[in-house]
Amino acid sequence: MKNRVDVLHGVNFDVLGRRGADHYGGLTLTELEVKVQRAARELGLEVSFSQTNHEGEYCEFLHRSAESTDGLILNPGAWTHYSWAIRDALEVAGLPAVEVHLSKVDEREEWRRVSVIRDLCVGTVQGQGPAGYRQALEMLKEALQR
Ligand code: DQA
Repeated sequence: MKNRVDVLHGVNFDVLGRRGADHYGGLTLTELEVKVQRAARELGLEVSFSQTNHEGEYCEFLHRSAESTDGLILNPGAWTHYSWAIRDALEVAGLPAVEVHLSKVDEREEWRRVSVIRDLCVGTVQGQGPAGYRQALEMLKEALQR
C-alpha cells in the first residue's frame, strides 16, 4: 500500500513562530510538525518533512521525491504565487500532491489569490491553520488508494 508522504515547507517556514500570529497562529515549525506527525500516524501514513528558503533546493526536493515517497503536501509559501520553476518541478515529480496554506489566501491580498501549482494538485486546503494539514493528509490518502 502506498502510504509515504513528504511535507515540503517553503520559504520563511523556518521562522513560522515569528510570523503574524493573526494569519499563521503563532506556532513554531516544530510544533506544527508534531501535530502533522500525530495526524499522519492516526491515518496510517508515514510522513517526512523538509524545509528550505532556496527555490532551487525546493525544486531539487521535488525532482528526487519520486525515489522516496508516494505523495506530497506542499506549502511553498510566497513561491506558490509566482514560481513557475516549482510548478515545472512538480510536473517532473509526477506524484499526487495537495496544496496547503495556513491562512485563507483567497481572501487576502490580490497577489496571494494566484497559485501557479493549484491545477497540478489533487486538492487545496486553506485557512484551516494546522488542522488543514490533517485534511490534506486525508485527501492524499484517498488519492493514494485510487
Ligand atoms: C502561506 C500563504 C502565503 O501567501 C505566504 O507567503 C506564506 C504562507 C500560508 O500558509 O498561509 O508564506 O503559504
